[in-house]
Amino acid sequence: MGNGIAQVAARAGFPVVMRDVGEDLLGRGMTAIDKSLQRDVDKERLTAEAKQAIFERIRPTTDLSDLREAFLIVEAVTEDVQVKTEVFRTLDRIAKADAILASNTSSISITRLGAATERPDKVIGMHFMNPVPVMKLVEIIRGAATSDETYQQIHCLTEKLGKVPLECNDSPGFISNRVLMPMINEAIFALYEGVASRESIDGIMKLGMNHPMGPLTLADFIGLDVCLAIMNVLHDGFGDSKYRPCPLLKRYVDAGWLGRKSGRGFYEY
Ligand code: 3HC
Repeated sequence: MGNGIAQVAARAGFPVVMRDVGEDLLGRGMTAIDKSLQRDVDKERLTAEAKQAIFERIRPTTDLSDLREAFLIVEAVTEDVQVKTEVFRTLDRIAKADAILASNTSSISITRLGAATERPDKVIGMHFMNPVPVMKLVEIIRGAATSDETYQQIHCLTEKLGKVPLECNDSPGFISNRVLMPMINEAIFALYEGVASRESIDGIMKLGMNHPMGPLTLADFIGLDVCLAIMNVLHDGFGDSKYRPCPLLKRYVDAGWLGRKSGRGFYEY
């Protein structure tokens, strides 16, 4: 997600600092950006020179203090509330006083992340969708303390990125994952209970509902660990058993079958 966000911002003309914890991960991020932009060069929707210019607007780094001059920092670390809270505390120390701190979290409370900083009015959710260069939506989440000014700035910036901002209040899973994840979880229950094969479940939803991907294929695409983390946030946040993650999802995550990224999920890659 991080490299997708960096790519979209650089393509819109912004200078970008892309920070990751290690050189290997940064290298993988830059390779993903290269591949993604190359699709458009191959389709003659982007010149090779323009691609190069986008590439040069992205400065990869492993050093968090390189974010010191940023007017906006978009966090896209692992979906774990402790990790994210710690990152926000650190960013609050590093960033300029007037910088906005946004989280690309898929379900964690923006209010809680804001409370870890001395600038909760400047903390907001910018939830991009995967694959970031393709998907039009950015779900904008206001925490309890997010100011109208911060919201307006992010709304305007999202449009400059060529995306459509849609607003939502802070609540577990926001709108996107509150609606999407129970559907995916239900598809996993159907597989678990032997109601239908993976191909039937996906085919029924693709051909019957015109979804671009069936729910099991989509779960593999998103990452089963991410799906499980989101279901846990919904389950804990609402305290309602209708959000309990399917045991089959838990088993796959325990086995390290995380979907496309690990080579195996509900399908093999
Ligand atoms: N970078 C750039 N372009 C890409 C791309 C990438 N990584 N992946 C696909 N594309 C482009 C292709 O170039 C192609 O462009 P064109 O039609 O203009 O020529 C277009 O997207 C379609 O790609 P393909 O023909 O290769 O494949 P598909 O038609 O199967 O589309 C898909 C792929 C866009 C991923 C489509 O299957 C899809 O929309 N799937 C659903 C995605 C979805 O639901 N995302 C949200 C996930 S939930 C989420 O992110 C929230 C999180 O919190 C969990």
